[in-house]
Amino acid sequence: MRRSTTVYLYELAWILPSIAIPVGMLAALAVTALGAGIHLPGRDGRIDPTQVAQTPPFDEPGLVQVAPGRFEVRMTAQVWSFAPNEIRVPVGSTVTFVATSKDVVHGLLIPKANVNVMLLPGQIARATARFDRPGEYPMFCHEYCGIAHHVMWGKVIVETYP
Ligand code: CUA
Repeated sequence: MRRSTTVYLYELAWILPSIAIPVGMLAALAVTALGAGIHLPGRDGRIDPTQVAQTPPFDEPGLVQVAPGRFEVRMTAQVWSFAPNEIRVPVGSTVTFVATSKDVVHGLLIPKANVNVMLLPGQIARATARFDRPGEYPMFCHEYCGIAHHVMWGKVIVETYP
């Protein structure tokens, strides 16, 4: 009798965690998916790569002020340029780049700011940087995209206002 009780407790010590651990993992999954909103990439960040020029906001590439000191750049990459190619913002601005490619894989690298994203056809990339110092910030395509890859660059000009 005594012996069988010991065996029973020993089995219980293994059975309970083997139930509790998966239940705990499922609970963690539910909390992150429903509570923290962490999901796999969905269709939200994707558009038809053949229709980039017709799809908002990429039908009108350019700089938009979304709040005081905050800007959004709607940008397309294509062989071998960025549109817009030159961006002017006042010093201290926070700029979010919303960009995609019209044709092949490009990249957007702004070495003096913290921007380094790949631009895949139809996949919308986002990167935000704050421009605290006046001056020119070159931006480059850093994915080899064809014969004139090396001329694919532009710049962010950060201006001081008097
Ligand atoms: Cu675009 Cu290299």
